Amino acid sequence: MRRLPAIYALSALAVVLLAVPSGARAAAGAGKEPVAVGSGGAVASMDLGASQAGIDVLKQGGNAIDAAVATASALGVTIPFVAGPGGGGFMVIYLAKTHQVVTINGRETCPAACTPAMFTDPATGQPLGYDDASDQPLATGVPSMVATWASAVSRYGRQPLAADLQPAIGVAERGFRVDPDFVQLTESDLPELRAYPASRALLLTPAGNPLPVGYLLRNPDLARTYRLLARYGPGYLYDGPLGQAIVQADDHPVLTPGQTVVTRPGIMTLGDLRAYQARVQPPTHVRYRGLDIYSMAPPSSSGSTVGEALNILSGYDLSAEPRATALFHYLEASRLSYADRNAYVGDPRYVSVPLSGLLSPAFAATRRCLIGDRALTSPVAPGHPYPPYGACGASQSGPAMSPEGGHTNNIVTTDKWGNIVAYTNTINFFGGSGQTVPGYGFLLNNEMTDFDFAPPSPGAYDPNLPAGGKQPRSSMGPVIALRDGQPVFSVGAAGGSTIITTILQIIVNHVDFGMPLPAALAAPRVSQTNSATSLAEPDFYDSALAGQLASEFGEKFTLATGPILPLDNYPGDATALQVLGHGQAEAIAEPVRLGGGSALVVRPAP
Ligand code: DON
Repeated sequence: MRRLPAIYALSALAVVLLAVPSGARAAAGAGKEPVAVGSGGAVASMDLGASQAGIDVLKQGGNAIDAAVATASALGVTIPFVAGPGGGGFMVIYLAKTHQVVTINGRETCPAACTPAMFTDPATGQPLGYDDASDQPLATGVPSMVATWASAVSRYGRQPLAADLQPAIGVAERGFRVDPDFVQLTESDLPELRAYPASRALLLTPAGNPLPVGYLLRNPDLARTYRLLARYGPGYLYDGPLGQAIVQADDHPVLTPGQTVVTRPGIMTLGDLRAYQARVQPPTHVRYRGLDIYSMAPPSSSGSTVGEALNILSGYDLSAEPRATALFHYLEASRLSYADRNAYVGDPRYVSVPLSGLLSPAFAATRRCLIGDRALTSPVAPGHPYPPYGACGASQSGPAMSPEGGHTNNIVTTDKWGNIVAYTNTINFFGGSGQTVPGYGFLLNNEMTDFDFAPPSPGAYDPNLPAGGKQPRSSMGPVIALRDGQPVFSVGAAGGSTIITTILQIIVNHVDFGMPLPAALAAPRVSQTNSATSLAEPDFYDSALAGQLASEFGEKFTLATGPILPLDNYPGDATALQVLGHGQAEAIAEPVRLGGGSALVVRPAP
């Protein structure tokens, strides 16, 4: 079980920071600045070294796509618990030359041998425990990160993949100093890391404890892996020796004698790796307050759920409402959209996803009309996103949501040409499956537990059951917003199912409440995912607004002070980008959450 690190708990300092206009805020982590304004290009990520890798590539002549790949690959070195070649993700790209938004679906696939019952215990016939299943090599999907990088740079980059990997190779060789955040991330995954000698050797002391703060951590294995990928291309993984090592590790893991965590080996084959393709697919699109909001289509549920909620909110003038009323509408729109997400979104190559219905303003009207004066009781039932969208849907109860958890990261980049990349990527839980591929220096994902383990009731339809080659539903999906055809901002987030609510709340904060993006991002979060209570960060939970929402509207809150067991679910960290015009951009990272992020620009504004 990965517990959320204590670094998440908002400190007294954080409370002060949240109250201060964001532009003037001091960095939370050593050397990290959460906001940077300037020209020539910009990067925001969780980590200073990773953001610097993106800036290095921009300075060498790479574009935003190259910078995103450089940042993601460097993050695989410096925060291997949330990133790296063993995972996957989704890239949303604004191409300045053609004024187009395109997306790359770089989600992991389930091996061909996957079945709907793969996460059922054969002994009991019952679904496995979520955390137990997530600890297993069985939960590892086909690593898709490298295919995504290769696809992105070959289609839209200005440099070869080899050049984009150079900064990460440098960081892996030179090493970096372990900081308190790194230690806490290690602690969150200790039993799983200890279960694998290769993970112990890379990430723990010989005694199996977290590396001490200040330790110079080099990763020559990962430097070599990136070198091999630079030299031979993605085929080294998808049809080569690295792929063989991944399959061997997944199906026949080398385990520490006496460990008891790992009990279910993987079912991956070289054929699964050969079959993998990162696909370009159209973005989702909705109009909101004159903006064109683009995001990720299924198997991501972000574009459809954020889009549906915004369509519902379009029926209210949030800026003119008392703040508590506006937040009540935000929570109820999110609650209803989540019911539809859970009922209808899965991998569209395997199930029919009514995407145009989910994104239709007419369908949203059938959901909006359910919102009255008091909070609905969750789980609310899904609507009927198929035309004709006539009557107001019934307000009944529906299935509860399956657990989702883990962690991820969002990177935003822009360049001097005006391209923008928003890239949410992950190995799922902190530390993924916990297994380091022996000799290659990176952790494997445990993304397959994003599938539902069983339908909501026996025999019921479920769009998100596992199958061979299928991609599990994701919440990852950053947004790029345009006005009159010109990009204005981008936002993306980590945090499992709260990714969607975080993005939605930041958009509402910024667009409706008029907060500058740094303040919109830093503001205390509250997340409603069709659950009995909304998850509230301490500053929100303790606020007068929360009191008003409870007394006037019947909203209920759970305090997010750390791990919300058994889900490890919490509002995650975000990054954002504001296009300022005249070649200037503002990169925005977290000031506090998860130890704070790093925003950098090529040429800082005076
Ligand atoms: O795809 C998803 O939605 C998750 N596997 C992403 C990982 C994540 O953020 C879970 N985090 N809390």
